[in-house]
Amino acid sequence: MVGTGYLGATHAVCMSELGFTVVGLDVDETKVASLASGAVPFFEPGLEELLRKNLESGRLTFSSSFEDVADADAHFLCVGTPQRADSAAADMRYLDSAMDGLLAAGLKPGALVIGKSTVPAGTAARLAARLATEAPHVGLGWNPEFLREGFAVEDTLRPDRLVFGVPTEDGDRAEAILREIYARPLDAGTPLIVADFATAELVKVAANSFLATKISFINAMAEVCEATDADVTVLAKALSYDTRIGGRFLGAGVGFGGGCLPKDIRAFQARAQELNIGRSVAFLGEVDAINLRRRARVAELATEVAGGDMKGKRVAVFGAAFKPNSDDIRDSPALDVAKALHDAGAVVTICDPAAMPNARRRHPELRYELNALDAALDADVVLHLTEWAEFREIDPAVLASVVRKPVVIDGRNTLDPVRWRQAGWTFHALGRPT
Ligand code: UGA
Repeated sequence: MVGTGYLGATHAVCMSELGFTVVGLDVDETKVASLASGAVPFFEPGLEELLRKNLESGRLTFSSSFEDVADADAHFLCVGTPQRADSAAADMRYLDSAMDGLLAAGLKPGALVIGKSTVPAGTAARLAARLATEAPHVGLGWNPEFLREGFAVEDTLRPDRLVFGVPTEDGDRAEAILREIYARPLDAGTPLIVADFATAELVKVAANSFLATKISFINAMAEVCEATDADVTVLAKALSYDTRIGGRFLGAGVGFGGGCLPKDIRAFQARAQELNIGRSVAFLGEVDAINLRRRARVAELATEVAGGDMKGKRVAVFGAAFKPNSDDIRDSPALDVAKALHDAGAVVTICDPAAMPNARRRHPELRYELNALDAALDADVVLHLTEWAEFREIDPAVLASVVRKPVVIDGRNTLDPVRWRQAGWTFHALGRPT
């Protein structure tokens, strides 16, 4: 497993759980040491127990030397492809250096390199061409990953579907190895799509683009609801009974963040432009714009309710992770809003059950409190921006007794407005009448 970040660490543990002998490889020695000692360096329910169990079994080890994986039968590429600092495109340097490392170590004849990272269409063909000249005895497969943070173990062991990208010529060998690796989920009836490389690569970006579009669609409806005094949560519920639409990913609020959806829709547009088909996915620019407008709307609403000026106002922000059950703060809407209000002169205090260490490292200028009541002390406005169960369970009457003004903005539409209003709160939410 080359790369032991979110995807690689989870995949290494789960493959070992399926009975394979696995080496998790990473150039980051701190990460390797942590995983080898049984500590998952990020928050993921259930993963640490499974890591320890598999370390004890002896099937799972971690290393930072490519030499330790040279004799493997299968090499999964699980490195990140983040957004480049200088453009919307994906940064391919980690993937390329993973290939450099594997090729320098010398792979054994018949081995299969399997790409899992989310990549621009055409990447697998490029890597296949490289293998054909530098290691013709090694094959390539593409096996995109669809796991969600917070459900990573479940999604890996019991995926919705499997996609195998194989070479158009002589793809049988790659398919056979992938079938062997995934025998357990396949035997359990997991649907399998076998495709060419480009299709396999595109399934992943298309899926994430569709999910992002669904969220931005409902958030666009939230904007319309705000202008018409309608309620987007009721609208979404009514839409959800149409089985062609379905109810998932119709949660209106402060929008999507994280290390995947935002960068994937941007990289997709960048790749489409390179291919001179920018128009085909130009709508993703609007999906991105709607999403970012929701963050701006929360900051604007907070300013409105605070009397038009944030200077010296105290703001409690509930949430720092980009979504609950995660400590991931990459492109987090909650932190983005917190930072904007801080920059406008507010005193912002954040509370999050898991993501505060990461948030504090990124934004030492903000304040942090472990307890929601402490974060809300003397607050002029409370913002609910990541829907942790803990925040839903807060007693609004108790919270009302510590704030300066009982005004809350529910940026995730998961608090109960009736309960909060009964406890004396002025309750604002995105896409719902006040
Ligand atoms: C996403 C995809 O869901 C996974 O299938 C994919 O494998 C992964 O990206 C990836 O590319 O690696 P993830 O980033 O873990 O997974 O998070 P999601 O659960 O998709 O949530 C993304 C964002 O959308 C979060 O900020 C969440 O709060 C937001 N969201 C989600 C909404 O605003 N409304 C919704 O109704 C659902």
